[in-house]
Amino acid sequence: MSADLKDMIDSAAAARQHAHAPYSGFKVGACIRAESGRLYAGCNVENAAYPQGQCAEATAIGAMVAGGDDRIAEIVVMGEGQRLCTPCGGCRQRLSEFAGAETPVHICGPEGLRQTIALGELLPYAFIADNLED
Ligand code: THU
Repeated sequence: MSADLKDMIDSAAAARQHAHAPYSGFKVGACIRAESGRLYAGCNVENAAYPQGQCAEATAIGAMVAGGDDRIAEIVVMGEGQRLCTPCGGCRQRLSEFAGAETPVHICGPEGLRQTIALGELLPYAFIADNLED
């Protein structure tokens, strides 16, 4: 495993500890490595008004944009449970705004890396900015 990926996993794990998930009890952490090399972490932030909750990936994307980056080189998502914590449909779309079909999405559990899946495999035929052209 690359040193970058290890740092990203550590960063996602640390952010996950801060998740605000009192309703689902399902804590998620994420870490984006931007093309600049900078890392941006996020966690899920739930709300008593349930639909206002935000996924960890969305939090990390917001941190990345606020930090001045706009291209994702790779992302770690860390959840729990036996199943893979794959990004929800909405987050696949959010990621595709700043990433390409080849961008690796590293799915992790608390114990470490479980599987790496390309974003294009998670969201084939994505609707992207090019679709808005004539
Ligand atoms: N969640 C994420 O933050 N990212 C994912 O990839 C899957 C789900 C959050 C949303 C909600 O706060 C909790 O996990 C349960 O769905």
